[in-house]
Amino acid sequence: MKPIQVGLLGIGTVGGGVFTVLERNQDEITRRAGRGIRINTVADLNVERAKELVKDRAQVVSDARAVINNPEIDIVVELIGGYGIAKDLVLEAIAAGKHVVTANKALIAVHGNEIFKAAHDKGVMVAFEAAVAGGIPIIKALREGLTANRIEWIAGIINGTTNFILSEMRDKGLDFQTVLKEAQRLGYAEADPTFDIEGVDAAHKATIMSAIAFGIPMQFEKAHIEGITKLDAIDIKYAEQLGYRIKLLGIAKKTPTGVELRVHPTLIPSKRLIANVEGAMNAVQVFGDAVGTTLYYGKGAGSEPTASAVIADLVDITRLLNADPEHRVPYLAFQADAVHDTPVLPIGEITTSYYLRLRVADQAGVLADITKILASHGVSIDALLQKEADEGESQTDLVALTHETKEKNMLAAIKEIQALKTVAGEVVKIRLENLS
Ligand code: HSE
Repeated sequence: MKPIQVGLLGIGTVGGGVFTVLERNQDEITRRAGRGIRINTVADLNVERAKELVKDRAQVVSDARAVINNPEIDIVVELIGGYGIAKDLVLEAIAAGKHVVTANKALIAVHGNEIFKAAHDKGVMVAFEAAVAGGIPIIKALREGLTANRIEWIAGIINGTTNFILSEMRDKGLDFQTVLKEAQRLGYAEADPTFDIEGVDAAHKATIMSAIAFGIPMQFEKAHIEGITKLDAIDIKYAEQLGYRIKLLGIAKKTPTGVELRVHPTLIPSKRLIANVEGAMNAVQVFGDAVGTTLYYGKGAGSEPTASAVIADLVDITRLLNADPEHRVPYLAFQADAVHDTPVLPIGEITTSYYLRLRVADQAGVLADITKILASHGVSIDALLQKEADEGESQTDLVALTHETKEKNMLAAIKEIQALKTVAGEVVKIRLENLS
């Protein structure tokens, strides 16, 4: 049978990986897909560089629309990124009746609802395994492997840059800015690392996972997002003394009143496997009512790991090409007419535990005042750590871990605590998840 014909929009690190892996493993891939998969044309503005990469294995053009409108091409792979031109091209490819594979998490998280509707109306497939956690087949696991379960929560280390920075801060006791510069020098962090360090990239990925896990539309605009830029090295140290690590987690949790969708630095017990995911690696922990806890670990970025996910989508589409569209795996794991409009909860309504660090006067009655305020808001203390005041100092650090409480109760208590004359500066608050 004639190989399926693929057009690539954009050829950089990932596109190069797709070429290399398809070529190296073509026999195995063909045995799995039932027919060959061939890259017919590549569109890239930098034609010279693209030709160097592709050699004579495919045509190279500068105009993406020459790929979209080419009747020979069955699948368009979008590797441009961002929500600008990439969105127009994906929608045009769908309108032209092409199946689409994309690694673009921003596009799916922000415009996925519109894209899936267009694809559904046209009867074409849109696949995006590479959009979340690179080479880890987490979309496949959530959408198919765990299909028997009511998924209760997902917690993921889904941004390698920030995990690398946090690992270095912990290992070397360095502050955020110093490690960020080192990460940029080593090429781990982008020249403009805003999306990574501010948690936006992780929020895109958490949004996609929440939609698939719970059968809800993409609701990126409702995600609560905090990055790691304000994280102080001292909190990493205190957390460690209490038996915890701080990770930037993407969390999606089903509750009786709605869905929690949030990205923020989080204390997790050091003994959890996921707490030991270091450097630029990614991991996603999923809790299903039938299966219990499952954990998926691997490379979240890079040429061949991401190509692994892109090619898996190409194989899936090839296998399902002749299936009636109603009998394919739905985009969001749930049938389109069974997607529920469950609300994403405002951050004040979420329930979690907390780590608090306060700078307090080292004098009688201070602790009593603080615990009284916490108790009056229904916040129960789980652990306390107080350092001896340094020689000649009249203030010291007080660290408290709380049991679970609603965020709005915690915020009200913090406001009152900050008003105490014996408490200096702002109370540092970091959320804590036991992941048990
Ligand atoms: N910038 C991402 C990260 C990789 O640091 O994990 C691509 O999603």
